[in-house]
Amino acid sequence: MDTIYVAFLVLILMGIAGLAWFSFLLYKKGRRNSEKVIREINKASNELKKSISHTYYQSEAYAQLMQLLDLKSSIPPTRGWAASPDLLLTIYETVKKISPSLVVELGSGVSTLVAAKSGARKVVSLDGSKEYAEKTRELIKEHRVRGVEVRFAPLLPYVNGLTWYDVSTIKDLKKIDLLIVDGPPGNNNTESRYPALKEFKDKLSPKAVVILDDVNREGERKLAEDFAASLPNHELVILNHEKGTAIISPR
Ligand SMILES: C[S@@+](CC[C@H](N)C(=O)[O-])C[C@H]1O[C@@H](n2cnc3c(N)ncnc32)[C@H](O)[C@@H]1O
Repeated sequence: MDTIYVAFLVLILMGIAGLAWFSFLLYKKGRRNSEKVIREINKASNELKKSISHTYYQSEAYAQLMQLLDLKSSIPPTRGWAASPDLLLTIYETVKKISPSLVVELGSGVSTLVAAKSGARKVVSLDGSKEYAEKTRELIKEHRVRGVEVRFAPLLPYVNGLTWYDVSTIKDLKKIDLLIVDGPPGNNNTESRYPALKEFKDKLSPKAVVILDDVNREGERKLAEDFAASLPNHELVILNHEKGTAIISPR
C-alpha cells in the first residue's frame, strides 16, 4: 500500500515538475515574442517620427516657396515623382544667388517652373516623355512665364544597356550656369542618370553649379561624387533633404 502511495506521489510530483517546465517554456516564448513586438513598435515609431519631421520641414519649405515665388496660378503636387519643396527652395536660392544665364534641367516638371520663376533668364528642360514634356509646357503657359523651352528628348539606347536622352537634343547647349539633374527616372536602373557626367561636363561654364536630386540613392550619390571629382575647382555639399540633394559649386 505504501509503495503504491509513494509511486502515486512521485507521479504527481513529476506532473507538477513537467507543468512547471512547460509554463517556463511558455513564459520564455512569450517574452521573446513581446520583445520582438516591442522592437517592431520602436522601429515603426522612429520611422513615423522621421516622416513627421520630414513632412513638417517640407511644409515649411513649401510655405516659404509660395511666398517667394508670387505664383498666379496653382501648381501640381510636389514630392513623389516631382521635386520636394526642400529641393525646390534650394533651386530658388541658387538661381537668386548665381543669376544663371542658362539653366539646363534633366527631367521637367514643377522644378522647371520654379527655376524660371526664380529669375533664370533661359531654362531648357529635357523630358524623355512626350506626355510629361507637354504637361510642363502647359504649366509654364498657365503661369505666363517666358524664357522656358521644354524639349522632348526620347530615351534612346546609350551604352552598357542604358537608355538616356537623345544626345542630338543637347548639341547646341553650352556655357550652362546651372545644371539640374532629376531625370531620367532613376528607379529602374541605378545608373540611369550617370551619362549626365560625360554629356554635360564640358558644357558647363566655369562658375557653373550642378544640383542633383535623389542622392540618397546609391547610383545618384555616385554620380554626384564622380561629377564633383571631375571638376577640380568645385566642391560637393550633400544636403539632408527628403530625397538627398547634392550641390556642386565653385570653391
Ligand atoms: C523625377 S521626374 C522629374 C520631376 C521634375 N523635376 C519635377 O520637379 O516635377 C523624372 C521624369 O519622370 C517622368 N514623370 C514625371 N511624373 C511622373 C509620373 N507621375 N509617373 C511616371 N513618370 C513621371 C517625367 O518624364 C520626368 O521627366
